[in-house]
Order: sequence, then structure tokens, then C-alpha cells
Amino acid sequence: MSSAPKIAFNAFTTPSKGVLIAFCGEGLEFGSATRKVLGKTADLVRRAAKGERFSGKSGTSLELLLPEALKVDRLVVIGTGKGSESKPNDALKLGGGAMGKVPKSAEDVTVVAELPSGALDADQAADLAQGIALRAYVFDRYKTKRKDDEKTPEKRSVTIAVEGPGAARKAYARREAVTGGVLMARDLVNEPANVLYPEEFARRTRALSKAGIDVEVLDERDMKKLGMGALLGVGQGSSRESRLVVMRWNGGKKGEAPVCFVGKGVCFDTGGISIKPAGSMEDMKGDMAGAACVTGLMQALAARKAKVNAVGLIGLVENMPDGKAQRPGDIVTSLSGQTIEIINTDAEGRLVLADVIWYAADRFKPKFIVDLATLTGAIIVALGQEYAGMFANNDELSERLTKAGEETGEKVWRMPLAPEYDKMIDSKFADMKNTGGSRWGGAITAAQFIKRFVDDKTPWAHLDIAGTGFDSRQNDVNRSWGSGWGVRLLDRLVAEYYER
Ligand code: BES
Ligand code: MN
Ligand code: ZN
Repeated sequence: MSSAPKIAFNAFTTPSKGVLIAFCGEGLEFGSATRKVLGKTADLVRRAAKGERFSGKSGTSLELLLPEALKVDRLVVIGTGKGSESKPNDALKLGGGAMGKVPKSAEDVTVVAELPSGALDADQAADLAQGIALRAYVFDRYKTKRKDDEKTPEKRSVTIAVEGPGAARKAYARREAVTGGVLMARDLVNEPANVLYPEEFARRTRALSKAGIDVEVLDERDMKKLGMGALLGVGQGSSRESRLVVMRWNGGKKGEAPVCFVGKGVCFDTGGISIKPAGSMEDMKGDMAGAACVTGLMQALAARKAKVNAVGLIGLVENMPDGKAQRPGDIVTSLSGQTIEIINTDAEGRLVLADVIWYAADRFKPKFIVDLATLTGAIIVALGQEYAGMFANNDELSERLTKAGEETGEKVWRMPLAPEYDKMIDSKFADMKNTGGSRWGGAITAAQFIKRFVDDKTPWAHLDIAGTGFDSRQNDVNRSWGSGWGVRLLDRLVAEYYER
């Protein structure tokens, strides 16, 4: 694994080596501190810009090698465009974009945290640093051969030059904790399913106890005793045993009801007997992205010592076809006592969630439950990869999630729940069936199914992250496949509304 860069904050000074990154606006406008840092080189930038037709437009950049009058190897000037209104997420993306301009081989990087309109404040500088850390992540554990330009040095350091280094450092401390959670989630999603099966996933959660989290692992015998027939039915075709992990962080008042996060952890989803077509089936190693997010979130909350009582619960199974596998037509009894007719063994995530959500509510009597699951292809058809689908039985929780989503850039879009959809999952033989029978509204009927395992008094939101949990597209703050989506979102939700 290539190592994460070490990030430090310093006052504005001109660096004497490495890569220097500065920002300029349209018309090659620099801020006053940047002008000082660049000194005479500012004129050189102006001359080079003409030849390159660089005008400082947002999303463009100019690179100068061995710039005269500076001791650095390389100067990168990044355009930020017209000084339009800034959005909450801007500095994070700016940091990610800046890190994208750094050659893999660079050991020392200095970023001047100033826009033409003025120096970034402590929070913005910390966001910039977080964007850098997120962008720098690569998952290369299984690469044994690397081209020279893909090699990163053992030690990389990024210095953020800011107006108030002390305040920025302080603001960055909690973001560093959250970044750790995001990267942990990405690692889990990126791991192949021959390495990361339920037991191994459970084993890795044990590392969270170092941060002060209480980790409890239930095995198949425990779950059988409890009566988790829905979850166990999914895993019964796999040679890998299923697990349920309960992670508790008690940073809040003693005895105060916790908030619960539940994650779908299907370590591999072949579809089971209702087997999936071969095309892109390899992506189904990421069908545990919900569980990865919950794990990363718990790590983040503990690392930043969040003043909240939080419980993360993840249902870990592998969905395989086999002589022992569950069949279409089988009827299972869930922990809630409700019976389910299996119509399609590929609609397995909701079966896992049904038992884990019921267990969470029954045992912890939480203030709210948020579940995350790569649940349906239908949500990708509806929303693509920009927004996760959100279903909720509570307007306040829904509004808070929407707001936290806008602030972090991990956006959610509320989808409907209604009795008409609920009717679609009534079964001839059991209390319900596990699919609506029609592909229409597939994300909604899945949510309706889960809703049958939530009592109306517990505020609940279901996030269908099939489109956002992993991603082959590139963006400013993530170049790897696993996104770690949801860690920053839910950390923000907790920080804004539930920490005291
Ligand atoms: N894990 C899949 C959903 C999925 C698809 C996630 C693509 C990420 C990318 C889920 O278990 C599934 O197979 N859902 C089925 C449900 C159907 C059988 C009712 C689907 O979406 O087709
Ligand atoms: Mn499936
Ligand atoms: Zn699945």
C-alpha cells in the first residue's frame, strides 16, 4: 500500500524544494500572500500563461518547471475562475484537484491556501487538507509491478501554507479522524471477496476496539438462537459462515438512547439460485459498501471522540448458489416473527436488513435508525451516481440528511413510500414476498419491504447507495473504486444534530 502523505500547516513562506501549488482567479489574479510567496516568478507566470492560453478559468492549470527565482522543482498554478459565491464543499474539491496535479514521485508539496479574494479561513484550509488526503488514496495492495511514474516515495509530505496555522491544525484534527474512516471504508469495499468474506470482515472490525469501540461478533449459532431466519437464509448457500457485528461507541451521556446505523454487508452477491448474468458481476464484491460505511463511520466517531452514543450494526453474508442454497418459493421466518416468501434469491439485501434492523430497534431502542445498502439496480436507473436514494418515515430526519448531504457533497434525494407500493409485496403463501414482482419502482418496493421491519415510532431512513458506494468514474476527491460514500455525510449528521 502506498503511504498517505503527512499533512502539516505552516505560515505563508516560500518553500525551498518540491512542488509549489498556488491558486489564481480569472485574469491571473493572485492574492496578496501568494504574490509574496511567488515574488518575481509572478511575472514569469504571466508570460507563460500567454503562450499556454491559460487565463485562470476554473478547472484549468498551468505548470512551470524549475521556475526562475524560486528553488522549487515545479510550480503549479490552478485557476479558480471568477470569484463567484463559494459553496460549502468548494475547498475540499479544490484540495482534491490540487493533489491531482502533483506527480506521483513528488516528496514535498506546498499548497498556498489563498484565493485571489483572500486567505482561506481555518475550516476552509482544513477542508482543503482533507481533500488532499482523500485524493491521495490509492488501493494498490495487489500490484506487484509498478511503472516508474506510478511509484510513490516512502515518505510524502504536504504543507498547507495558511494565515493561522494553529487554528487550521485544530480544525483539521477532526477531519483527519473522519478521513481515516473514509479510507477504511474504501479499503473494505476495494478488497476482493476471496480475501474479505464475512469472518474476515468481522475480524477487521476488531481493530476498532483500539479507538475505544466495543465490538461484539455474533456467529451463526447465536443468530439461529435469536431466530434470524431471513439473514441466515441468504448465507446458507455459502461455505463462508455469516456474521453480525455490533460496534458501540459511548461518547454521549450515560444511559442516553443511542443512534443506530445499520449496513448491508453482502461480501459477494452472485444472486444465489436466481443467479446474475456474468457481465460486471465482479462489482458485487462491493455489495458490502453499506457495512463498510458503517464501520468507517464508527471508526471516525471514535477517533474524533464524538459526544454521542452510537451503535453500528452490520449483517455479513455471502450470497452463493449451491446444493444448500435457498430456493425461490422457500418461506423463511424473520427475527420479527413475520414470514417471507423468497421469490428471487437475488433480492437478498433486504432480507439481511430486515433482521438486523429489527434487532437494532429491539435491543437498543434508538433515537433513530439509518440504514445503508447497495440495495437495487433500480435506484441507479432513477438517480444515477450523483445522489443516493433516501426513504424515510420521518420528515425531520429526512431534512437533516438532505442538508448534511448538500454540505458534504454526499447528496441524498428523497423517494416516496406509499401503501400502494406496499401492497405489491403481499404474498399468497406468507406475510410478504421479497420482491414486488415487477421491475417498476424496484427501489421503492425494496424500501417498503424494509419498512415492514421498522415500527412507526422509530425515526428511520434507508439510503440506497447502489449508485454511490462504488464507482468507476473519477472525481476530485476519489480516484479509487470504493468511494467510502456516507462516512462524511453521517458524521456531519451526528455532529450537527445529535452531539451535545
Ligand atoms: N446488490 C444488488 C443491487 C446492486 C446492483 C447494487 C448493481 C449495486 C450495483 C442487489 O442485491 C440486487 O441484486 N438487487 C436486484 C433486486 C431484484 C432481484 C428485485 C436488482 O436490483 O436487480
Ligand atoms: Mn442481489
Ligand atoms: Zn445485493
